[in-house]
Amino acid sequence: MFEEAQLYAPVTKGSDGAVEVQLAADHPGVDDPVYRARRNQIAALALDWTAGQAIPHAEYTEEEQEVWRQVCRELAVLHRTYACGEYLAGAERLQLPADHIPQLDEVTAAVEPLTGFRYVPAAGLVPLREFYGSLADRLFHSTQYIRHHSVPLYTPEPDVIHEVVGHANCLASDRFAALYQTAGDAARRVESAEALEFVSKVFWFSLEFGVLREGGRVRTYGAGLLSSYGEIQEIGNADLRPLDVARMGVQTYDITHYQPLLFCADSFEHVEDVVGEFFATVDDERVAELTAHPAGV
Ligand SMILES: [Fe+2]
Repeated sequence: MFEEAQLYAPVTKGSDGAVEVQLAADHPGVDDPVYRARRNQIAALALDWTAGQAIPHAEYTEEEQEVWRQVCRELAVLHRTYACGEYLAGAERLQLPADHIPQLDEVTAAVEPLTGFRYVPAAGLVPLREFYGSLADRLFHSTQYIRHHSVPLYTPEPDVIHEVVGHANCLASDRFAALYQTAGDAARRVESAEALEFVSKVFWFSLEFGVLREGGRVRTYGAGLLSSYGEIQEIGNADLRPLDVARMGVQTYDITHYQPLLFCADSFEHVEDVVGEFFATVDDERVAELTAHPAGV
């Protein structure tokens, strides 16, 4: 099983139709019955949704709204130091609300006029080929739940803050949007499960956890880092490796810890040249070559 499956809490639907999100034993909200019920309700919204229907709204509590406000405030300060210029320009264009959690159709209303990307609901893990492949249609599958209020600056799962503050600010940039779409094209082009996993790992080490040098320091263009209060401050301490898709596609990672190893580009243009070119051209044969002859061999 590909490791990314561990990112999301499994969602089950019983024979009586009851939806349950299976939070891990160490999840901050596992012993909070009110939070558990909210998570089940929000997951059910996505499971009941089908393409073409209106996007369901999650009714967030005041406690949840406050989590959004606090995290947005804290991340905005960190972004001035650690986010790459293209992300900051995207955030400036998008003007996400800082005072409330936007519903997904509100996100679409802001992003679509800029780059054509639209947000649709996901209960949890979306199969890799569907998640990445949809990017080719400029469609982004997004969870709607928010992290537990007891630890607002930490989440073991990608929540609406990750999906929107991390990804939507990127998707508001024409250059990022082109990269995401090209990743979707790659996911649709490759055929074997191995090649798809390779593509998804290159995505993980670039558009989720990639860093680059800009203005004399290491900054990030990865949504995973851009939405993580703790981890973004550690990027300068990571083991930085040169941008190299052959290595990225086979590099293992552990989602339960900060990424000890990051791939660092010389600039955003460098990401476009190397990662963008890979997504634009990769096929099963190319993955087989890269896997058989890792870089430098
Ligand atoms: Fe993500």
